[in-house]
Amino acid sequence: MERTLVLVKPDGVQRGLIGEVISRLENRGLRIVGAKFLQVSRELAETHYAIHKGKPFYDGLIAYITSAPVMAMVWEGPSAITAVRQTMGSTRPTEAAPGSLRHDFALEVGRNLTHASDSVENGVAEVSLWFTEQELVTWERATDSWIFE
Ligand code: RTP
Ligand code: MG
Repeated sequence: MERTLVLVKPDGVQRGLIGEVISRLENRGLRIVGAKFLQVSRELAETHYAIHKGKPFYDGLIAYITSAPVMAMVWEGPSAITAVRQTMGSTRPTEAAPGSLRHDFALEVGRNLTHASDSVENGVAEVSLWFTEQELVTWERATDSWIFE
């Protein structure tokens, strides 16, 4: 079972797409483990996006993610990292597969609605950066055996 951090970024929140993102992840069969709505501090933004420091889009990225509240969530399931990134679609919305969130709801890379962890290791690191252990819920869903083999 893998875990991934999912963010509905400020554009997704402002456009009323929190429910759409959650619906798609629920429909896919992934299981929610934690959720909180927050205004991202500059410090959290800089830690989360440390890997992009120095890139031309870095300042704009920090401004974007701290510009308005985000919905932060943890989702789990078999191959959750790959499955969630597939549901989100490619980073550039014009390269995202039809049917993916970024294809269906976005146009520009700097307004691409969501974040999802890109590896199992980054998933673990990002979940512990954004959530405390007490904020994560271990539970069994009534439908688990019909979705998880
Ligand atoms: P994310 O981390 O947000 O899930 O997105 P990602 O893995 O698909 O893309 P990544 O390469 O990690 O980039 C992080 C975010 O930075 C913004 N970005 N802008 N202007 C640009 O060329 C550019 N490249 C990346 C996007 O918001 C991207 O999601
Ligand atoms: Mg990334």
